[in-house]
Amino acid sequence: MSKIAVLGYGTVGSGVVAVFNTNRELINTREGEEIEVKYVLDLRDFPGDPVENILVHDFSVIVNDPEVEVVAEVMGGTGAAYQFTKQCLLAGKSVCTSNKALVAEHGQELMDIAREKGVNYLFEASCGGGIPIIRALNTSLKADKVDEISGILNGTTNYMLWKMEQEGVDFETALKEAQARGYAEADPTADVEGHDACRKIAILSSIAYGKHINYKDIYTEGITKVTPDDMEYAKAMNRRIKLLATSHHTEEGVYILVAPFLVEEKNPLFGVEDVFNAVFVHGNMLGDAMFYGSGAGKLPTASAVAADILDCIRNKGRLVPNGWASEELDLLDVDEAEGRFFLRVTDASYDEIEELFPGAETVELDSYWDEIGVVTKTMRQREFKEKQALLGEKVRRMIRIKD
Ligand code: HSE
Repeated sequence: MSKIAVLGYGTVGSGVVAVFNTNRELINTREGEEIEVKYVLDLRDFPGDPVENILVHDFSVIVNDPEVEVVAEVMGGTGAAYQFTKQCLLAGKSVCTSNKALVAEHGQELMDIAREKGVNYLFEASCGGGIPIIRALNTSLKADKVDEISGILNGTTNYMLWKMEQEGVDFETALKEAQARGYAEADPTADVEGHDACRKIAILSSIAYGKHINYKDIYTEGITKVTPDDMEYAKAMNRRIKLLATSHHTEEGVYILVAPFLVEEKNPLFGVEDVFNAVFVHGNMLGDAMFYGSGAGKLPTASAVAADILDCIRNKGRLVPNGWASEELDLLDVDEAEGRFFLRVTDASYDEIEELFPGAETVELDSYWDEIGVVTKTMRQREFKEKQALLGEKVRRMIRIKD
C-alpha cells in the first residue's frame, strides 16, 4: 500500500480526493497496490464531508509521517505552499502540484532539492489543466527541436472571450460566469491580465528549450482592453480574438509573449472554444501537433495531479525525466519579432495609411464610419511601433495577427 497526503481542500484538492475515490478500484488494479489518501490538510473544518476523519490542520503531522510517500500540493500561492513543498522534498517525499505560480517562481530550486533527495517534483497540472503536455515535451518530443509553442493556456479568458463573442455579454458578466464555474484564480487579475498564461508558457518553454526561463522577462498583455467593437472587427475578418501565449525558438534566439491575437479561421487554435485549452507545438522533425483538452476546473486538473502521484509511486527511487536545466535563457526583445498587426485608426486618410504601411489591407464596418481597420504586412514589431507612434492618438486599438 502507498499512502499520500493532499495539502489544501479547495477546488483542486477536493478533486484529487474525488479522483482516488471514484476510480479507486481501477487505479488499484492498474497499479497493483492500494493507494490511500491518508491525510488532507486544510485550515477549515468540513463537517459531514467524507474527508472529516482524515482532515488535519497541522502540517507537521504530514511531513513527520514516514508512511506518507507522496504529497499533492494544491493550495496555490507561493507562501505556505513553497515552505511546505520544500519541507516535504527535504523529508524525502515526492510532491505533485497544479501550482503554476510556485513552479514558475521556485520550480528550479524545488527540482534541484528533489533531485538531491532522489524524489520527484512533478507539475503536469500546472499547464493546460488535464492536457498531458509536460509529459509529452519531456518524453515524446525528445528527438525533436521544438521551435514553436503557441497556446491557449488560460481557460478563464478563453471562456470569457468565447462568451463575449457568442453571446455579446460584457467583460464583467463573462468574468462572473467563469468564477462561478471555478475556472478563475482566487484573484482573477492573474487570469485577465495574462499573468497566469505567462507563467505557464515560461514553464513549457523551459522544458522544451532545456534552460530556465524567468517568467518576469516575458512581455505580457491581458484581455481587459478587448471590447465588443473589436469582436465585430474579428468577425468581419473571419477571425477570433484569443489570448495566446506564444514562444518561438529562432536562429537569433527565443522570444516569448502573451497577448490577445486575431486568429485566422484555418489556424487550429481558432476552434478552441469555451474553457478548453490547446497547445500547438512545432518540432523540426515532427512538424505540427496540437494538444487539446480541458484546461481548468476541478476534475480535469485533479486528474493530472493524480496521474503525477501515480508516476511518483511507480518511480519510487528513480527520477522521472525532466528537460528543464538550471542555466538561464536570455530572451530576445519582442520588438525584434516579426508579425502582422491590426489597427483601428480614426481621422486618417487611406493615403496616410498606405504611406505608413504599404500594402496594408483595410477593413470597414458600417457601424464604425469614423475609423479604418488596418491589417499590416509582415514587419518587425520595432518598425511597426515607430509607425504607430506617428499616428499618435488616432490609434484606437492594436491587436496582433496570428495567421
Ligand atoms: N485560472 C486558471 C485558468 C486555472 O483559467 O486556466 C487553471 O490553471
